[in-house]
Amino acid sequence: MKVLGVSGSPIKDSNTDRALKIALAATGVKTEFVKLSEYNIQPCNACLGCRETNSCVQKDGGNLLMNKAFKADALIIAGFTPYSSIDSRTKIFMERLYPLHHRHALMSGKPGAAIVTCAIPPGHEGMPSACENGISAIQNYMLEEGMNFIGGISILGNVPCVACKDQCGVSALKMLFGQDATPENVKVNSVENNPQEITTLEKLGTDIVDAYYR
Ligand SMILES: Cc1cc2nc3c(=O)[nH]c(=O)nc-3n(C[C@H](O)[C@H](O)[C@H](O)COP(=O)(O)O)c2cc1C
Repeated sequence: MKVLGVSGSPIKDSNTDRALKIALAATGVKTEFVKLSEYNIQPCNACLGCRETNSCVQKDGGNLLMNKAFKADALIIAGFTPYSSIDSRTKIFMERLYPLHHRHALMSGKPGAAIVTCAIPPGHEGMPSACENGISAIQNYMLEEGMNFIGGISILGNVPCVACKDQCGVSALKMLFGQDATPENVKVNSVENNPQEITTLEKLGTDIVDAYYR
C-alpha cells in the first residue's frame, strides 16, 4: 500500500508540511510527500479535453501530479486557509485531478483525508470557521469523486502578522488576540508542541491504512 501526501503550503517546512509528515510517518506503509509549490500547475480550464483520454491537455506539472494520485492507494491532502478558504495551490491540485473522474471513476473507493492549518482557533467568536471551510473543500472533492473520506484534522498555525514589525489597522494579531497583542507577546504555534494534535495526526495515519484493508 502507498499513501500520497500533498501539501499546498508554500512555506518551507511549515506547520502544514510537518503535520502531514507526522500523519504519513504513522501509516507504517510506503508514502510520498509532495509540496505543490515545487510544481508548475495551472487551474482546470473546464474544456473537458480530458473526457476521452483521462489526461489533461495542458502541458504543465498537472498530469504528473495526477498520475501520482492515480497510482497511490490513499490520499491525504493538507492545506492552509488564506482568507478563510482553502489555499489556491490545493484547490488547483484538486481541480487537476478531474481527468481521473471520467468514465472510470479512477479515485473512487480510495481512502482520503484532510489536514488543514489555520490561524483562527476553531470556534473563535466573530471570526469565520477557517479550518472547517478548508476541510469541507477537501472533503467535497473526495466525496464527489466517490472516495472514502475518513476525516479531517484542524491544526492551529500562525497569523502572518506575527512576523510583521508594523502592526497596521487590519492586523490579524489584534483581530484575534485584542488591541494589546504584539508579535512579541503572542505565542507562536508549532504542531510539535501540541500533543493532542500529534495524537490525532498519528491516528489519522493508522486509520487511513485500516480503511484501505477493511
Ligand atoms: C494571505 C494570507 C491570508 C491569510 N488569511 C487567513 C485567514 O483568513 N484565516 C486563517 O485562519 N488564517 C489565515 N492565514 C494564515 C494561514 O492560515 C497560516 O499561514 C496557516 O495557519 C499556516 O500556518 P504556519 O505558517 O504556522 O504553517 C493567512 C495567511 C496568508 C498568507
